[in-house]
Amino acid sequence: MVFRRIVILTGAGVSAESGMGTFRDKDGIWTKYDIEDVATPEGFARNPTLVHDFYNARRRALRDAAPNPAHHALARLEKAVTAAGGELLLVTQNVDNLHEKAGSQNLLHMHGELTRVKCDACGSAGAWNDDLFALTECWRCGLPGALRPDVVWFGEMPYGMETIFERLSACDLFVSIGTSGEVYPAAGFVLEADMAGAHTIELNLEPSANARGFTEGRYGPASEVVSIWVDDFVGRLDG
Ligand code: APR
Repeated sequence: MVFRRIVILTGAGVSAESGMGTFRDKDGIWTKYDIEDVATPEGFARNPTLVHDFYNARRRALRDAAPNPAHHALARLEKAVTAAGGELLLVTQNVDNLHEKAGSQNLLHMHGELTRVKCDACGSAGAWNDDLFALTECWRCGLPGALRPDVVWFGEMPYGMETIFERLSACDLFVSIGTSGEVYPAAGFVLEADMAGAHTIELNLEPSANARGFTEGRYGPASEVVSIWVDDFVGRLDG
């Protein structure tokens, strides 16, 4: 069967081999920082400097990070599916820009982006690659202290949910890559795809929390597993 309407979900595992940390693995980011302190609106209100330091360090690390073969394979997949008249949406939970650097275009950052900031005072949002500080002034309204990373924190609504559910309800293939399946709503996407009758595949280092919900699973480092799966899939498209 050739699949035509594809939704891909990625998590921190797809960027692990690019040197970007994952969250819940051994030595993961959440073993070093308390989610409450750096990934909630309350934590930001309590100590904006701690939060800015946390995101400044990750934004700086991103400057030197390069896409790995998994990111490049997904960009290749999008090109091949589109050329064959199909459609592919890549939904990422990641706030890094490695999918963009690899050439993916139909991309939706449901948890926002490290390289964007927004103003809580005037609502402006835009690209930002430098450090951000508690008193940095907004480029639009000029207010100091109202700028924050344009990243979705716990308790906030992820971006693009309407589009994501629309595409999941019509997809014939859903592939989840490099995510622990511990954080909703992303962890529930496989159920939506399954209800739409889609074939569902998990490509991960090891079975995730919701591995049993997938039709198929392949396990190992994303740079190998994703590349092999994409080459096989594209080969069948061309076949
Ligand atoms: N290749 C493939 N998978 C990997 C690799 C790798 N090299 N290394 C780790 N993994 C897998 C782990 O086995 C794990 O299942 O990636 C997953 C990473 O899980 P998490 O650290 O929980 O990251 P993620 O699922 O993206 O977290 C979801 O939680 O904290 C929030 O907003 C944050 O977007 C994040 C969300």
